[in-house]
Amino acid sequence: MSDRLPGFRDFYPEPLPAADAWSCDLRQHLFERWRDTARRYGFREYDGPPLEPLELYTNKSGAEIVAQLFNFTDKGDRAVALRPEMTPTVARMIASTERAYRKPVKWFSIPQLFRYEKQQKGRLREHFQLNCDIFGEADVSADAEIIALLIDVLRALGLTADDFVIRLSSRQAWQRFFAAKGGDPARAYDFYQVVDKIDRERPEVSAERLTALGIRLEEVQAFITASVPEPELQAVLDNLSARGLGEFLKVDYGVIRGLAYYTGVVFEAFDRKGEFRAIAGGGRYDQLIHQVSNGRVNLPALGFGMGDVVLAELLKARGLVPSFAGRVAAVVLIEDEGLRSDSLRLVQTLREAGHAIEYALTPSKGDKQFKRALDLGALHTVRLERAADGALMARVKELKTRTERVLTPAEVSDAL
Ligand code: HAM
Repeated sequence: MSDRLPGFRDFYPEPLPAADAWSCDLRQHLFERWRDTARRYGFREYDGPPLEPLELYTNKSGAEIVAQLFNFTDKGDRAVALRPEMTPTVARMIASTERAYRKPVKWFSIPQLFRYEKQQKGRLREHFQLNCDIFGEADVSADAEIIALLIDVLRALGLTADDFVIRLSSRQAWQRFFAAKGGDPARAYDFYQVVDKIDRERPEVSAERLTALGIRLEEVQAFITASVPEPELQAVLDNLSARGLGEFLKVDYGVIRGLAYYTGVVFEAFDRKGEFRAIAGGGRYDQLIHQVSNGRVNLPALGFGMGDVVLAELLKARGLVPSFAGRVAAVVLIEDEGLRSDSLRLVQTLREAGHAIEYALTPSKGDKQFKRALDLGALHTVRLERAADGALMARVKELKTRTERVLTPAEVSDAL
């Protein structure tokens, strides 16, 4: 039997076959909360192709993602790549159709993304990512709106201000810092990449790279330690505090984001204890649409991506994964094979009424069928019987309380 590829996942229905198996029920739970919350904020769902021209990424996303591309030449000799992120795709979609939409455009998507990364905790070679983006609004009120949405997505999953924090920063602040120190504007992105890795890199290495850019490590460290909110960040803080969401925020210039296209406020969501990698990241990218459209369209843009991998790990660690039992409304028990046809009719009627119904496909003992109902976490069992006068009756048992009611078959649907 061949194994699956490293970094890819099988998703199983619960109960899971092994403690480390990925749950399709949990995945669905995340998707439902993601969709509900995005819709509450007025975002509309879109999607794009999982395979894109390679060049969509090679000059827009930045070196790190390009090094992680799953790319190949297709049978038509095209250089293609599986999408490693959604932002270039949505930028292209918006750039080519923006006249059809009233601004600001607020869109979300839940793509599966592919990055050839070294497999490690919180990092796989495929993941699902909620993407929420706003197009056509340059004001920082849009930055605050997108961060409020990010916070509410995490709250909708049961996480609180004790569990996570949004670290806020600003590429503009770093750009001003770099300019004030006499940095070469053409090398700003090289500078951002050193800052991005400063936590993970040995200080001597960072210091050397910074010196090559004319900057001293101590100056950078002092700027991060002070993290004084610059005006664009203060405006975001004020807006979110007015909503009562101030406790979720921390200004932290240690965040700068690895991707090349960010131009303004940037942010990342982390668990408070610092046990996991980033839960989500995003920011403003006002030049990307201009680039993707070869200068034809100019639209400010911003958004975030939230992956399912770290999020699932965090929810498990905090005991916030709900029970997925009880999805079966009833198991129809067929103990008397003489009643199979009547039972099948009842199963069909109940399913048509929208209930999730199970029953034994082949004859089996009553206690076995009952045990299966318990294993499935079913809410009820229903058993048909023929009364002395020949009428069909249904015994509906609620499994939690074990209370039983005798009803006519027509009354069963309402009783579930
Ligand atoms: P990103 O920071 O590369 O941003 O990814 C966002 C989130 O996706 C990360 O915080 C992490 O939770 C998850 N993620 C990324 N790579 C992996 C991986 N290999 N395995 C598991 N999870 C992963 C972006 O992708 C931007 N395009 C987000 C964005 C949207 N910015 C503006 N709009």
